[in-house]
Amino acid sequence: MTPGREPLPPWAGRRVVLGVCGGIAAYKSVQVARDLTLRGATVDVVLTDAARRFVAPMSFEGVTGHGPLIDIFAVGDAALHVSLGREADCVCVAPATADFIARAASGRASDLLTTVLVATDAPVVIAPAMNDRMFAHPRTRASLAVLEEDLRYRRVGPAEGRLAAGEGSGPGRMVEPATIVDAVGRALGDGGPLAGSRVLVTAAGTREPVDPVRYLGNRSSGKMGYALARAAWLRGAEVTLVSGPSTVPVPYGVEMVRVETALEMCDAVLERVGGVDVAVHAAAVADYRPRVPRTEKVKRGVAGDALTVDLVANPDIAAASAARMKAGSVAVGFALETSELLTRARRKLDAKGFDLIVANRAGEKGAGFEIDTNRVTIIVRGEQPRELPVMDKFAVACEILDVVEERLA
Ligand code: PMT
Repeated sequence: MTPGREPLPPWAGRRVVLGVCGGIAAYKSVQVARDLTLRGATVDVVLTDAARRFVAPMSFEGVTGHGPLIDIFAVGDAALHVSLGREADCVCVAPATADFIARAASGRASDLLTTVLVATDAPVVIAPAMNDRMFAHPRTRASLAVLEEDLRYRRVGPAEGRLAAGEGSGPGRMVEPATIVDAVGRALGDGGPLAGSRVLVTAAGTREPVDPVRYLGNRSSGKMGYALARAAWLRGAEVTLVSGPSTVPVPYGVEMVRVETALEMCDAVLERVGGVDVAVHAAAVADYRPRVPRTEKVKRGVAGDALTVDLVANPDIAAASAARMKAGSVAVGFALETSELLTRARRKLDAKGFDLIVANRAGEKGAGFEIDTNRVTIIVRGEQPRELPVMDKFAVACEILDVVEERLA
């Protein structure tokens, strides 16, 4: 569970119809139902007849708190398909089989799930899953093309990878539940305050080469910046993530620009920052780099007991960006300090031209580098600092974006 902020936007309080078709990937749909429910969505699961052969209805009841719907002719609610479609904020079909895709593309209303589809105005997320030959079949491609012409439909996947037992691997594998949950989140967040805006986020530490083998770096993992990029995308923004080296998975839907040094990060940011509505500088940029990196590995035998590396200052990326940002845009900085946190953060807020700054303390339990949580104070110019408790970095990102949205409004 995410400490500090549950349930989470954009899922919280929203109604999702989760359609499950008859494919081996249906076992993963239980996880999708569970994760959507944990994030605060009300999930109505609709199973096709074939889906029941792959996964037990009881499993969905166990994770959503209510039984799945199957029979369009069930006595007691003759207009069930209409009410499900009308009340849904999003319909998600995972797995979407070749048969379902063909029926949806031709507008059939031959079972409860396809009937809900023709009775809803909500966005529809489909996660195709099938054998690679079925996915490559011209009829399947044609049906998908029909669905994709309809602006309400968003396709997520399929991924390339291992298929059902004995089928080898190829394109046709359903994307993982976490990606489907994010695709649903994006569909729910599309009308939100960040919809249509462009957001640039910097993340992770830079590496400044000393010689071909060694570099000067820092402990930033990228977790804070990647959480911000993911949260902004979920709220409907077009997001570019400029990141130093990191092993954190790239958030779904986000444009990724990988860099290594501060100079590369500076070029990548300055090239793009003039066109964005929001810039978030979460990267731990090296303030200095070796003036001239050695072309040969420094040998201990040659360097002796002491080695001096001549350092030169890197450009201040955030300060240089401020001058290029368009009117009405919002610049967010971070301050990482070991002492005098708020005083130094306020100084950086002014010196670097930020609209708000997020102060965090290095070395504090539950905060700072590498770990999944952070404890921050958000300082908006001219306002009282907002001190937050230790929270998951995604929840911290949501709090920061709430403040950004207030500024944009
Ligand atoms: O990546 P994680 O492991 O999740 O850790 C997250 C974090 C601790 C790195 C993150 O929360 C954070 O504090 N990032 C900023 C770290 C930092 O470099 O702070 P600073 O106080 O040195 O820099 C102030 C601001 O200027 C920052 O927005 C920084 O991106 C920016 N800066 C700094 C130097 C430079 N040459 N150019 C810059 O743009």
